[in-house]
Amino acid sequence: MIAKPLLNVLAGNVHYPPPVWLMRQAGRYLPEYRRIRERAGDFLKLCLTPELATEVTLQPVRRFGFDAAILFADILLVPLALGVPVSFVEGEGPRLRPVQNRAAVRTLRRELDETVLAPVYETIKNVGKRLHPETTLLGFCGAPWTVATYMVAGRGSSAQEPARLFAYRDAEGFEELVQLLVETSASYLIYQLQAGAEAVQIFDTWAGVLGPHEFRRWCIEPTRRLVNKVRQSVPDARIIGFPRGAGTNLSQYVTNVPVDAVGLDWAIDMDLVREKIRSGLPLQGKLDPLVLLAGGEALDHAVDANLADFAGRPFIFNLGHGILPDTPIAHVERMLARIRASNAG
Ligand code: CP3
Repeated sequence: MIAKPLLNVLAGNVHYPPPVWLMRQAGRYLPEYRRIRERAGDFLKLCLTPELATEVTLQPVRRFGFDAAILFADILLVPLALGVPVSFVEGEGPRLRPVQNRAAVRTLRRELDETVLAPVYETIKNVGKRLHPETTLLGFCGAPWTVATYMVAGRGSSAQEPARLFAYRDAEGFEELVQLLVETSASYLIYQLQAGAEAVQIFDTWAGVLGPHEFRRWCIEPTRRLVNKVRQSVPDARIIGFPRGAGTNLSQYVTNVPVDAVGLDWAIDMDLVREKIRSGLPLQGKLDPLVLLAGGEALDHAVDANLADFAGRPFIFNLGHGILPDTPIAHVERMLARIRASNAG
């Protein structure tokens, strides 16, 4: 028996009520976050100042007693450490110097500039010292495909057209970028695990825009290599994969990527999960962030349905994507009270 509920579930055990955390649980819906964010001024400065990043990592755990603390950082710190100028524009999101062709890929550093990322590992060490013994410390990175979509477009885009175009026009050149991200993301996760992260999540936020062939090539294959590379250095690394929007490609993902658990988005069909995903595989998800924002009876019903859908399986209660900034704190409290008061059957 493992003392930490979340690690217990990742080891394949059923835990009731399920452990719970929320993707993007540190963020703008919390007044205490907004205060520190204002003090830091710049979002990257917040990520790269261990004292502040430690505090915002701990805020949601302190307030809600979540079963996990997720490192406060961003998936775009990897491109930053590859030499790409990255900034966050208030109200608009990230901006990066675009990497639009093979020549541009070859101007990138071949390895991460670890002086850029050292504060992140420092934050992990600090948080580790301050967590309750039942709380699990999570690290993370973006999956190679998702990070590449931001690097190629230089910003967010609706269906990741610039990266898909690059991949169609010059698959080998795009593969060079993806492989660079496999290697550097592996080293980033290894350092996080060595600093004290007890499990890591690989966010593939934009997996859902890929057709079946491209899903295999740009989501499954690189993530499989990334997971294997991490395990070469840290054999017992606990890894959660989150291929958002995978749909019917999910069964291929879990068959081919040796993750310890898979995160489900709110749109995934539960029949597909029951029929195609082996029953011992730990699952995480899949409440719609909008129903948490809406609250009321719709939220109660959705929480009950989520609990019923995963009863009897190793399961981590979470959202199907990140919490929305306008989510009322009272709704998070209502959700938690309902999960914690629920009975196993
Ligand atoms: O989960 C957590 O609380 C830990 C911290 C975390 C952040 N980003 C902090 C953040 C994590 C795990 C991420 C992951 C991330 N970052 C993803 C994958 C998950 C997802 O939500 O899809 C992606 C695609 C990014 C890239 C990114 N960072 C974008 C597109 C944006 C702008 C959109 C937005 O929500 O503002 C960010 C900024 C960002 N990352 C914020 C936070 C708290 C908001 C910045 C602010 O405070 O102004």
